[in-house]
Amino acid sequence: MDARNDMLRLLQSRKQGYSLEQPFYTDPDYFKLDMELIWHRDWLFIGHDCELPKPGSYITVQIGDYPVVLVRDQKGRINAFHNSCRHRGSRVCNTDKGTAAKLVCPYHQWTYELDGRLLFARQMAEGFDKSQFGLKPVACESVGGYIFICLAKEPADFAPMRAMIEPYLLPHRLSEAKVAFESTIVEKGNWKLVWENNRECYHCAGNHPELCKTFPEAPTVTGVQGADSDPEMLAHWAKCEAAGLPSRFRIDPAGQYRATRAPLLRDAVSYTMSGKRA
Ligand code: FES
Repeated sequence: MDARNDMLRLLQSRKQGYSLEQPFYTDPDYFKLDMELIWHRDWLFIGHDCELPKPGSYITVQIGDYPVVLVRDQKGRINAFHNSCRHRGSRVCNTDKGTAAKLVCPYHQWTYELDGRLLFARQMAEGFDKSQFGLKPVACESVGGYIFICLAKEPADFAPMRAMIEPYLLPHRLSEAKVAFESTIVEKGNWKLVWENNRECYHCAGNHPELCKTFPEAPTVTGVQGADSDPEMLAHWAKCEAAGLPSRFRIDPAGQYRATRAPLLRDAVSYTMSGKRA
């Protein structure tokens, strides 16, 4: 039986509310299918606008087989491209991040504009049409300071997600934020383990006491479970919405994304660029 059928059979016979079977976390063929069916097909959160503070700022990411570069162009737009030179496929940008006036391939110096157009290719044959050899674009959307890309040839319509989450994000003005500190965590486990851990806060009290100083671990906080009958959540949402902040829990009909405004614990303190705010 091939991995695709095997995976489908296990999903269909799955006991709801329990972990997936072992091969979902360990089998290399399952992992390839994950990449093909999810990571190379769906919209992915990649980073924040403020990581690309000025024209020429770029960051690079690797998604399975695909190297991608995100760059802010002269007009301030953030574009994503396959980080693969149209000449012979060299990586155009070789570092995790940087700033460049133009994107210059290190192999034979083909030179691309920040919007992906090929500007310069030396010693090419007469009739060579530069306009046909720009960097190949990757679908890219920036919403409320968050950047998403999609590697699919025909990405799902991003507009419904933008319509839902943008009103929640815009009041925070994250596009005007500055990066103060960065750290990298490499999780040595299948991505689904990381995601499953992220979806519950059952582990928070025992493992993240610092988080629990500000973030309530009650399941109602995320809006998914019982928030509509939690008087504290209802009062929080009402207070925020009276101040003009969309807050109530909303979820896409297919369950792909959701939005809510979660409260901080009562005596939490938040900090902004200009100081401390209670
Ligand atoms: S591979 Fe990029 S210029 Fe040749």
